[in-house]
Amino acid sequence: MTALAVFHSTVRLEEKLILEAARRKGVAVRLRDIREEVLDPRAFALDFDVALERSVSTVKGDYLVDFLETLGAPVVNTAAVARACGDKFRTSILLERAGVPTPRFALAFGLEPAREAVARLGGYPVVAKPPLGSWGRLLAKINDDDALEAVLEHKDVLGTPPQKAYYLQEYVRKPGRDIRAFVFGTEVRCAIARASAHWITNTARGATASAYPVTPELSDVCARAAAAVGGGLLAVDLFETPDGLTVNEMNHTMEFKNSEAPTGYPISEAVVDYALERAKGRA
Ligand SMILES: Nc1ncnc2c1ncn2[C@@H]1O[C@H](COP(=O)(O)OP(=O)(O)O)[C@@H](O)[C@H]1O
Ligand SMILES: [Mg+2]
Repeated sequence: MTALAVFHSTVRLEEKLILEAARRKGVAVRLRDIREEVLDPRAFALDFDVALERSVSTVKGDYLVDFLETLGAPVVNTAAVARACGDKFRTSILLERAGVPTPRFALAFGLEPAREAVARLGGYPVVAKPPLGSWGRLLAKINDDDALEAVLEHKDVLGTPPQKAYYLQEYVRKPGRDIRAFVFGTEVRCAIARASAHWITNTARGATASAYPVTPELSDVCARAAAAVGGGLLAVDLFETPDGLTVNEMNHTMEFKNSEAPTGYPISEAVVDYALERAKGRA
């Protein structure tokens, strides 16, 4: 029997759903709290066939994945995918290089270069984001030069070192919602639209989720986006524009608790199936 190890920190509803799905399928599954592990290659027992990384903390998750992969254990997602998706600047570069539609972006380290970047992106408004953030936290829609100066000064004086890299993106006038597609390998299985009166439409910030059809365009754009980062279990955020879909960012430790009900798709079961395929070397 294939044994699945789910490495977690805080146990969210997603981890409970994955655990239940694995048990329903008769898979030998163990929850392992990443905060209690000792990553010592001389002592670490690789007593599972595949590991699923589900840490809320990106730092802990990244170290674990690197460790396991270096020891030769199959891990979902791979270290390369985590690296590609964990940093928005890196994701954007990979999408751009692969010719996948993505909003214009630039990174700068000072106010003057940031002003130049804004001009290149087509002027205000722009969105400033922490390259390593999530849940819509610390995003700033910057409407003018005074706001740019203020936001960047706050980052410089109060921020942690990674926040002093200013990731800027053109502001996309989306229709009160964005799209999140759930990708397995390079295949979209289901998607939701996230609607909110606020321009930040994360469900973690109160946006409401409804089913969105898996159109040929969505499948095509997401397949190319997934391939650009190496393929895996991915949640792809997209915007609808008059020119078609554009990929905003990609998430490699996806949250989906608000998405199974509206889509009717058993994401947790598909996550387990994907991990089992990886154990067999087929994913
Ligand atoms: N460039 C943008 N233009 C318009 N809306 C944006 C832009 N960037 C982000 N948003 C909004 O903010 C949300 C969170 O941004 P995102 O880049 O996905 O960061 P996070 O990792 O925090 O989810 C998006 O789902 C979208 O609603
Ligand atoms: Mg997002």
